[in-house]
Amino acid sequence: MSEVAKTSTDVATLAFEGKELALKVVEGSEQEKAIDIAALRAQTGLITLDEGYVNTGATTSSICFLDGERGILRYRGYSIEDLARNCDFLEICFLLIYGELPTEEEFANFRDSIRRHTMLHEDMRLFYNGFPRDAHPMASLSSVVSAMSTFYQDSLDPNDPKQVEISIYRLLAKLPTIAAFSHKKSIGQPFIYPDNNLSYCENFLKMMHAVPCEEYRIDPDFVQALNLLLIVHADHEQNCSTSTVRMVGSSNANLFASIAAGICALWGPLHGGANEACVAMLERIREDNGDVAKYVKMAKDKDNNFRLMGFGHRVYKNFDPRATIIKAACDRLLAKLKVDDPLFKIAQELESVALNDEYFVQRKLYPNVDFYSGVIYRALGIPMQMFTVLFAMGRLPGWIAHWKEMHASPGKKICRPRQVYTGPTLREFVPLKKRS
Ligand code: CMC
Repeated sequence: MSEVAKTSTDVATLAFEGKELALKVVEGSEQEKAIDIAALRAQTGLITLDEGYVNTGATTSSICFLDGERGILRYRGYSIEDLARNCDFLEICFLLIYGELPTEEEFANFRDSIRRHTMLHEDMRLFYNGFPRDAHPMASLSSVVSAMSTFYQDSLDPNDPKQVEISIYRLLAKLPTIAAFSHKKSIGQPFIYPDNNLSYCENFLKMMHAVPCEEYRIDPDFVQALNLLLIVHADHEQNCSTSTVRMVGSSNANLFASIAAGICALWGPLHGGANEACVAMLERIREDNGDVAKYVKMAKDKDNNFRLMGFGHRVYKNFDPRATIIKAACDRLLAKLKVDDPLFKIAQELESVALNDEYFVQRKLYPNVDFYSGVIYRALGIPMQMFTVLFAMGRLPGWIAHWKEMHASPGKKICRPRQVYTGPTLREFVPLKKRS
């Protein structure tokens, strides 16, 4: 459950129309301060306006700490660097969802509970016959997750902890299967059923790459790289998709519906879809004779809506610690596999040109998590359209943790922002026949 933020001894004062209003200041555990404006409208008739929620804290939360100026990311107090070095992705799921790292016994039980749910209902497979072969896997993913509400009507009540628990197992267990089936459908190969003797990452790689007519050998380097990628994507506080999950969940929509909405939000190229868009951009630069300078110039041109994908972040203004971890992993993996990927070289050159360019320096634009992740996915044999699906698999425990935290909060309310209306004032109605 979210810890209640302390009320600071500080008070903010708002002066408006000759009156002064004292506003409470709340303080988080990392000394972050926020002005509590809950009483503002009742006392002054004013609301606050903040398009894109650039400066708006939507909630208190004890799941993830992020300091964009210092490049810090922690899950439940543990640094992302420590977790990425030492953990299995399922330990991270447990940590985010339940608040603590599991003991050995807790971990074994958790893994077993998830393993029991990896298969899809056979009727669910039939959906894939209906999707066009070239359907984007993010569209199939959100549709099938949404359809879980039709198959698991026994676990839809957000206020019943037992039902929520089983929905959590089902989601964590089935998302890799749903994802891998989407891929197999797109390449016309038979679906590979999950193998519960394997670990979470091994199982996913097998379902993605194995074919029934050949033995599939799981490469431990692939497993390690995938595990790391899932961990660094696992949570990122109130980002667009997580806020969507909370927003949808706040109406008491069930967990499957809330997660399906989060998947849709993640798909956009300004959010999780940036990993696919970034590799598409690197390909484009390669086909254009590797002319990196041309694309940096285009990104700076205000008359051109081209942006460097995988660059910039709403919160990180120094560096993205996830990008640092991924770049190092990328270096290691490509060297170990002896892969000479021209896109990696272009990415490195682009990074170096941009980081020395006044435009990017001034705006504090750095490579983000999506800049190098696509290069690793390529090395793992993951096709480009599946990149954002892997982001979704990684982010799933974060979405669940936030959804649960919101429901457990004593202050839970339906999310319902206000607006400043700018349309026409009252107009006289004109009947259809009299309109010119
Ligand atoms: N290339 C060129 N210029 C950029 C870029 C970029 N990638 N990102 C921001 N800018 C410029 C922008 O034009 C603006 O310039 P000016 O002040 O002259 O108008 C300034 O930097 C601030 O940009 P903004 O759009 O106001 O910043 P934001 O906080 O609203 O947007 C962002 C953050 C991530 C959407 C944006 O940086 C972007 O579009 N990046 C490319 C897409 C991307 O990589 N997204 C993945 C984000 S990390 C994964 C995740 O968690 O979703």
